[in-house]
Amino acid sequence: MEQSFVMMKPDVAQRRLLGKILTRFEEKGLQLVAMKLLQIDESLAKEHYGEHAEKPFFNDLVSYITSSPSLAMVIKGDDAISLIRKIVGATNPKEADLGTIRGDFAMDMGRNVIHASDAPESAKREIALFFDDDEICDYQMVDDSWIYE
Ligand code: GTP
Ligand code: MG
Repeated sequence: MEQSFVMMKPDVAQRRLLGKILTRFEEKGLQLVAMKLLQIDESLAKEHYGEHAEKPFFNDLVSYITSSPSLAMVIKGDDAISLIRKIVGATNPKEADLGTIRGDFAMDMGRNVIHASDAPESAKREIALFFDDDEICDYQMVDDSWIYE
């Protein structure tokens, strides 16, 4: 099974939507293996979003991500990385399909509520950036045989 790094951005705790959005992943059959609420500082935000350092929106993105606590998670499941990107929806919430998290809970690119890794290499890098190995739980779900054939 695959692991993805998922992070609810500062607007989600502020808007009291953490539980509602977490439920989407649980209901799908994905497994939460790590979680922490943290105030991301400027250096961590810049490292996490390093690929966008030259983009015109980079400073606004760093301000957004450091503005209030975020909920960082590792979520596990079959094809978790691409599946979670589908559940999250398009980067621009106005273009995101209804039924996706961004489509249902967000309006603007700069307040798009959630991050999810886009590829196996980024998942590995992002998980290591936010979690130590011993913070990731290895456990069996009792309903696995009802989720997977
Ligand atoms: P993440 O999961 O957060 O990485 O989003 P993504 O992979 O769907 O998009 P991308 O990595 O291209 O952009 C990272 C984040 O930068 C987005 O989620 C937005 O919050 C922000 N962003 C991207 N493009 C724009 C833009 O044109 N304007 C603004 N204000 N923010 C942007
Ligand atoms: Mg991205």
